[in-house]
Amino acid sequence: MTEETPTKVNMEKIVSLCQRRGFIFPSSEIYGGLSSCWDYGPLGVELKRNVKETWWRAVVQERDDVIGLDASILMHPRTWAASGHLEGFADPLVECKGCHLRWRSDELEGDRCPSCGGELTEPRLFNLMFKTFMGPVEEEASVVYLRPETAQGMFVNFQNVVNTTRKRLPFGIAQIGKAFRNEITTGNFIFRSREFEQMEIEFFVKPGSDEEWFNYWLEERLNWYVKLGIKKENLRLREHTKEELAHYARKCFDIDYLFPMGWSELEGIANRGDFDLVQHAKYSGKSMDYFDDETKEHFIPYIIEPSAGVDRSVLACLCDAYDEEPDKDEIRVLLHLHPNLAPIKVAVLPLSRREPLVKAAKEIYADLRQHWMISYDDAQSIGRRYRRQDEIGTPFCVTVDFQSLEDNQVTIRERDSMNQIRIPAAVLKDTLQAKLEGEDLFVLPPGGQIWLEEKKGA
Ligand code: GAP
Repeated sequence: MTEETPTKVNMEKIVSLCQRRGFIFPSSEIYGGLSSCWDYGPLGVELKRNVKETWWRAVVQERDDVIGLDASILMHPRTWAASGHLEGFADPLVECKGCHLRWRSDELEGDRCPSCGGELTEPRLFNLMFKTFMGPVEEEASVVYLRPETAQGMFVNFQNVVNTTRKRLPFGIAQIGKAFRNEITTGNFIFRSREFEQMEIEFFVKPGSDEEWFNYWLEERLNWYVKLGIKKENLRLREHTKEELAHYARKCFDIDYLFPMGWSELEGIANRGDFDLVQHAKYSGKSMDYFDDETKEHFIPYIIEPSAGVDRSVLACLCDAYDEEPDKDEIRVLLHLHPNLAPIKVAVLPLSRREPLVKAAKEIYADLRQHWMISYDDAQSIGRRYRRQDEIGTPFCVTVDFQSLEDNQVTIRERDSMNQIRIPAAVLKDTLQAKLEGEDLFVLPPGGQIWLEEKKGA
């Protein structure tokens, strides 16, 4: 963390926007909320799906060397003995003898309670895995854990994937899914919660080529955030010190984002060596060897792991996209979300609720919704409706006015520049497609024109 923070955005504004517009709500809010658990509302669920789909597209769909997996959350308890989580996945916890608040001792600056200044207990190790029971009997033999990372599902399926896909090294397995950690200190909205989602790749390589692949994934993953529209100056790489390295890691870099509370981890990229496959071979008694057809050698692959948080990516996208602009006597709040991430791609706005206009606008709405998430809004002035769409990051609004009924043309208004063009309704879908894919707003289809009149108002 540092003292540098982005200017216009702070966490209160992001939380307020998310609650006001239905991106994210506290979990079980009517009961007072559940600490560090969050519900994604109608817009949040779209944003989150778009983040995950963009990741999946980049790391699975568009590559020959990575395939997907969806392993179960509950795994055989031996998994966690082998992975080292039963023994080592613990934080040092201290409790205040006065107010009984609990803290991670490695995050405290002094030796007193940060809340009341009281005396603290000696640190004890607190395991972060959530425990539950499999079946009707609550006994030690039926204990299972909610997975604290998706990674282990990929390690234990290594041989299944090799045998069924005939993939040869180097190749990766990718997975998106929930993970659970009984974190001692949570906070900063969805940055650190007890239930969250991860997007992880386990990339299996020949020992000796691991350094090269580690550097490859570092660059690849950093660029993914840049392609999502996150500003380069808000991203940095940070190498873990020897003391910080997890028990399984030979080397690790974090991709940090400059969140409102300071630089913090968005994704970790680790060289896990052969730690995981060796451990699972030992604990399961099954071979984790790989046979190289070319060199005729047997060996245990090394693993490069880019491990990203879905919720942290959502938060970074929201923080990075948030903007405020003076707008007459008010402030225009807008999200400069990349079109691929925007929950709603296009809003259809009839200029009035009068019948012939509504019919025409509804027809356009019905047609466009077959291709994208579209919103239809006819409440209040057109200016207010534009602002509502700006605030949720909708890249384009399509306005249908009385002239549209005569000339069969509609107006497209762009979120960031507020510029407008007028085009034939017949080419609306293709024009929007091109613009959502990044074509400039002023590349006009045949018959289109720059619409100057509306630009004054907005
Ligand atoms: N398999 C490796 C692994 O799980 P990690 O650094 O503990 O590594 C990877 O977690 C990513 O998961 C983090 O970079 C972060 O984005 C996300 N993450 C971890 N703990 C989280 C939490 N409590 N809340 C939200 N996201 C979390």
